[in-house]
Amino acid sequence: MKRPQTRVVLAMTADGKIADEMRSPARFGSAIDKSHLEKQISLVDGVIFGAGTLRAYGTSLPISDPLLLANRAKLKLPPQPIHIVCSASGNLNSQLRFFSQPIPRCLVTTSQGGKLWQNKKHYFDRILISDRIDWIEIFAQLIELGINKLAILGGGELVASLLALDLVDEIYLTICPLILGGVNAPTPVEGIGLSAKTAKRLELVGIEQVESEVFLHYRVQH
Ligand SMILES: NC(=O)c1ccc[n+]([C@@H]2O[C@H](COP(=O)([O-])OP(=O)(O)OC[C@H]3O[C@@H](n4cnc5c(N)ncnc54)[C@H](OP(=O)(O)O)[C@@H]3O)[C@@H](O)[C@H]2O)c1
Repeated sequence: MKRPQTRVVLAMTADGKIADEMRSPARFGSAIDKSHLEKQISLVDGVIFGAGTLRAYGTSLPISDPLLLANRAKLKLPPQPIHIVCSASGNLNSQLRFFSQPIPRCLVTTSQGGKLWQNKKHYFDRILISDRIDWIEIFAQLIELGINKLAILGGGELVASLLALDLVDEIYLTICPLILGGVNAPTPVEGIGLSAKTAKRLELVGIEQVESEVFLHYRVQH
């Protein structure tokens, strides 16, 4: 099957949370972690995130570092990758700042969700419709659009569905020095979970410590 190469990029607390119980935007990573995220975004053709993530932040992260922009230009890539939001309901507020950011945008939704954007198609450069959100079909469409490398930016629900289908190749996880706790605080992988027997196995590719943060790079064993 032809599909983009994928990497999940997330920051989590030392107790494994990607946000607090209120699902506030996660701004606990350092400036170094933000640069790391921006670098990862600069290496791909598209980034994808769930509607919950967009609702929490209201924006996505465009590349602004001149060196990263110059590197993309050298590789004849467009300045920004396409920012793809997945929302089965299509229920997104068109007043979000995301819609005025200078980035190409794409919506992955159902035909029901697509109806909400019928008269507002100009908000997105592309709208991909798939009932029951069939990721195999969507990933094939992404390849058709020239998206060969895709960064998955969360949240836990989106990561869980892609991991369950074995569509995640690499995981970049930053461990940040704080604890949030909370039984309802989101974690990198939500969904119904896996059993100890069906757990996804990872190979550690790299580890780097910068001040009190740890940058982990894993490869998912398929
Ligand atoms: N620390 C970090 O690096 C980081 C990164 C990203 C997010 N976050 C945090 O994560 C939280 C948001 O996460 P979340 O749990 O709400 O998860 P999410 O995956 O961002 O959003 C869930 C929503 O996205 C859509 N969606 C996701 N997967 C789908 C699928 N397979 N099929 C159809 N629709 C799908 C649905 O939208 P509809 O409801 O519209 O159908 C679903 O309700 C926020 O608190 C944010 O701050 C943290």
